[in-house]
Amino acid sequence: MKFPIFLSSLALLATTNISLALKPYQIRGVEDPIYHLYLQALPSSPSTAVMGPEASSEYFNISDTIQSTNTSMLLNIGDGGGGVSYLPLSFNATSGVGPWGLEGDTIITTEGSIYGRELNFLVCPNSVSGYYDLYLQTGSDTPSGETCSNYQTIHLPCLC
Ligand SMILES: *[C@@H]1O[C@H](CO)[C@@H](O)[C@H](O)[C@H]1NC(C)=O
Ligand SMILES: *[C@@H]1O[C@H](CO)[C@@H](O)[C@H](O)[C@H]1NC(C)=O
Ligand SMILES: *[C@@H]1O[C@H](CO)[C@@H](O)[C@H](O)[C@H]1NC(C)=O
Repeated sequence: MKFPIFLSSLALLATTNISLALKPYQIRGVEDPIYHLYLQALPSSPSTAVMGPEASSEYFNISDTIQSTNTSMLLNIGDGGGGVSYLPLSFNATSGVGPWGLEGDTIITTEGSIYGRELNFLVCPNSVSGYYDLYLQTGSDTPSGETCSNYQTIHLPCLC
């Protein structure tokens, strides 16, 4: 009698751990220059995804998509142009099949996505002070003439 119950709870637990956050979470950086800066839209450009002040942080539903509960916008990965390895993140009301997932508290693109499993990001200062543009880093390229920081990771503040 107990066996089927055990199995279904195990299945639920596995799903929860791999790809599904339980409630809206903030997403933040953990190393300079984005230490405790938070994912949000740039105020002057709602389609630009940036790391910025905690005071203007958005909250996100995280599954295979990352959707702001503040604006309903979805986090998308663009094309850097010219085959560069850093791919700009943006917000848009629409999204294809979501590439996103969680590994512990770390935001990743999943193995099954077109990007494969990636968890490195590049950040470069936005022209608006206090905000950093955010790119998925699929290699090691960096834009010339900018002071960027490579191999950043982004996280939920906790799994609580
Ligand atoms: C986003 O929503 C959260 C939860 O409702 C709220 O605490 C936060 O202030 C909102 N952020 C902005 C920038 O409005
Ligand atoms: C976020 O998830 C909650 C709980 O599942 C849901 O009620 C809410 O509508 C979602 N918000 C968005 C913007 O999808
Ligand atoms: C969202 O993407 C569509 C299709 O590419 C585009 O027409 C639209 O302007 C985008 N919206 C924003 C807010 O960037």
